[in-house]
Amino acid sequence: GFKPLKVAMIGTGYVGLATGTALAYLGHQVTGVDKDVSKIKLLRSGKSPIREQGLETLLALAQDRLFFTHSTAEAVAEAHVILIAVGTPSKANGEADTQFVEAAAREVAASLLPGRNYILVVKSTVPVGTNRRVAYVVNRVLNERGLAKEVTAYVVSNPEFLREGMALYDTFYPDRIVVGAREAAGVEMLRRLYRPILEQTFDPPPFLPRPEGYALPPLITTDPTSAEMIKYAANAFLALKISFINEIAGLCEKVGADVTEVSRGIGLDPRIGLRFLAAGLGWGGSCFPKDTAALLAMGQEYDYDLPIVAAAREINFRQRLRVVEKLQEALKGVRGRVVGVLGLSFKPGTDDIRESPSMDLVRILIDRGAHVRVHDPVALDNARRALEGLEVEFFQDPYTLASGAEALVLATEWPEYRHLDLARLAGMMRTPVLVDGRNLFDPEQARRAGWTYLGVGR
Ligand code: UDX
Repeated sequence: GFKPLKVAMIGTGYVGLATGTALAYLGHQVTGVDKDVSKIKLLRSGKSPIREQGLETLLALAQDRLFFTHSTAEAVAEAHVILIAVGTPSKANGEADTQFVEAAAREVAASLLPGRNYILVVKSTVPVGTNRRVAYVVNRVLNERGLAKEVTAYVVSNPEFLREGMALYDTFYPDRIVVGAREAAGVEMLRRLYRPILEQTFDPPPFLPRPEGYALPPLITTDPTSAEMIKYAANAFLALKISFINEIAGLCEKVGADVTEVSRGIGLDPRIGLRFLAAGLGWGGSCFPKDTAALLAMGQEYDYDLPIVAAAREINFRQRLRVVEKLQEALKGVRGRVVGVLGLSFKPGTDDIRESPSMDLVRILIDRGAHVRVHDPVALDNARRALEGLEVEFFQDPYTLASGAEALVLATEWPEYRHLDLARLAGMMRTPVLVDGRNLFDPEQARRAGWTYLGVGR
């Protein structure tokens, strides 16, 4: 049977809010903690500070069991499980900065009550060894309070694998749940926490039906250090899968092969798999760039080279320059040229522009003297802020953007771009050059519509 738990979620950022809301929907009593008082206000009124599919609906569905406060003590005292989901930003050397995790752990430890048992879960993506460090910090604070014998607090690693835009889907229907614990009680508590997901006994929210053929997710129990490594290895592998196909794409161009055919041809081998083999402008976002950098920094700390991960990052950066080279060749130089960029978010379905290859491309083009025009269905406001002070024109509509332009770059494969009237668009251009940075369009169709079409790897 299901026994609801009292849960404290420290940090109501992307991971904390999505996971916390899902746990409340499943029946637990969840209190989200954040230092940002304006965020707490917003959340208390039922609004989400982040754009994520279904999140506001789920907030409403779970509201009876979902609370928000800026006080760690208030959330923690009565809790059975305390999850830390605060940010771990990159330091200058690429290392993930764990100061917010440690500060949260200290504050949590200062609020624990004698005579109780707690499970403290590290959900943030943290360098290997952080779990041990958090356990140490918690014990030190408990010692200082003279409560080392009166309070049990076990620290558990529980990395997440959420995709932006699919965060709730990935929470309800994960491929696996990873728990790194030293004590059996830690594993048991997380098994209880995730039981409705592990056994799929919950009623799916109306907007997130259980996918057909979905198999129950395995619970991977391991030691904390391996759990921490799993998260980094997973993201690095996905990133290098994309970089690999991008490397092959470059060679496809030279020899006259089509990388989209190659992706399908190799991906149907289940050992390779079809997903994450879309060649293009490369990967961005809040995870792959940061986590691969952190992995390299970890290698450096232990005096161990990771040449594959390093190469994946280099190739990823090179992809942007290759698009610039294509423009340079097609336009006989980009200086003074009017170039339109379609799509600014790091992937479709989000307004997130963090580490977006497209934003980087915009900066490189400006740097090389092009007149850059940009459009995005939802990320325009974020981009305006990020590009402040640079000479760039913002457009609400792709056709207006195309008017008088000398080249277009499709940089983020928003579905709405697929439905653009390519002939009409070509008709607005001064010179109809299209660099399809995500292989969104059919080359033949684009050419028939009047474009000089340049894809990636075909
Ligand atoms: C990723 C992981 O998928 C997720 O498991 C982890 O928890 C966080 O990082 P996310 O950053 O939301 O999620 O984006 P994802 O959908 O994985 O895409 C990452 C980047 O790769 C995007 O910039 C996307 O455009 C790019 N990409 C993806 C490709 O260039 N080609 C592909 O075939 C797939």
